[in-house]
Amino acid sequence: MQTRRFGRLGWQVSEVGYGLWGMGGWSGSDDTQSVDSLDYAIEQGCTFFDTALAYGDGKSEQLLGQVLKRHPRHNLTVATKIPPKNGKWPAVSEYRLDDVFPADYIREATETSLKNLGVESIDLQQFHVWTDEWAGDERWQKAVDDLKRQKLIKGFGISINRWEPTNVLRALDTGLVDAVQVVYNIFDQNPEDELFPACREKGIAVIARVPFDEGSLTGTMTHGMTWPQGDWRNLYFSPDKLPAILHRVEALRHDVPAGMSMPELALRFILANPDVSTVIPGMRRKLHVETNLRVSDGRPLASDVLERLRAHRWVRTYFVP
Ligand SMILES: NC(=O)c1ccc[n+]([C@@H]2O[C@H](COP(=O)([O-])OP(=O)(O)OC[C@H]3O[C@@H](n4cnc5c(N)ncnc54)[C@H](OP(=O)(O)O)[C@@H]3O)[C@@H](O)[C@H]2O)c1
Repeated sequence: MQTRRFGRLGWQVSEVGYGLWGMGGWSGSDDTQSVDSLDYAIEQGCTFFDTALAYGDGKSEQLLGQVLKRHPRHNLTVATKIPPKNGKWPAVSEYRLDDVFPADYIREATETSLKNLGVESIDLQQFHVWTDEWAGDERWQKAVDDLKRQKLIKGFGISINRWEPTNVLRALDTGLVDAVQVVYNIFDQNPEDELFPACREKGIAVIARVPFDEGSLTGTMTHGMTWPQGDWRNLYFSPDKLPAILHRVEALRHDVPAGMSMPELALRFILANPDVSTVIPGMRRKLHVETNLRVSDGRPLASDVLERLRAHRWVRTYFVP
């Protein structure tokens, strides 16, 4: 497993990290399988874990907390997130900071996450939604600064709304943001335009999330696919959207090099970018952990392949699921 520097925080983290949303409540989750997969990932050298208080209302954090106890000697980095107090994803510019991230709530949510994870300090606390309208508001800035000074958190990050990679640039100017988490994959390449250069200049770590476009870039999805009621993927891959997504996946198949799987290509595309500090595939199955972690072998993606992948950029605008 290769490691990378996590921005100006200076931590060395595994370049393939672990996303823990699915195990918090996507249909088909099995807790025993999830914790076994986490244990296995740690044994294989994975050191970066991304969860959130909202994932199963603390369940994902609690599963990670169980696993952390078993690996006290590993130098593991844990990132979690404060959900919006108004319960609305994503944040839009009309929302008042008071309704989404008031100072007392920022602290209260952090204390709940500390308990769920069973740690004294959170390595990286993140806002789960953001609008740059709030960037200059000193109330969130002070609340975050207080958490850092009281050592309840070591670093602070913002998880940027899906497909709005520039809706954070003003917040980065405050100097308080140590990391951003952004959707970056073969389809969603536009963080490269403005966000990555800004992060490079300021020493801000980049967490690349949703590497498989919630599953389409694994190449395993089929027309007419549905999930049990309540699984949010029924919205993301709704019947009006799925055909267009699968059409693009089919086009991509022509550019998958011989001997390489689509998930491997998806991860190699992201790792080819030195601005990325770590990529966090969502995984519940050990087989997925095994195949995804194996990609971190230091072998670069051939430049002609990378060039061809540029043509698969897909600029999407936000839809409210
Ligand atoms: N707003 C936010 O802050 C936000 C939003 C979305 C995601 N995230 C973070 O980013 C992480 C990653 O995103 P995601 O989990 O939503 O989506 P993703 O990583 O794009 O896709 C996850 C899906 O891919 C499957 N998968 C993983 N490896 C595979 C492989 N080698 N072959 C075939 N299938 C494979 C997983 O299956 P199994 O689960 O069955 O193993 C799961 O169904 C999340 O877990 C979360 O930590 C944050």
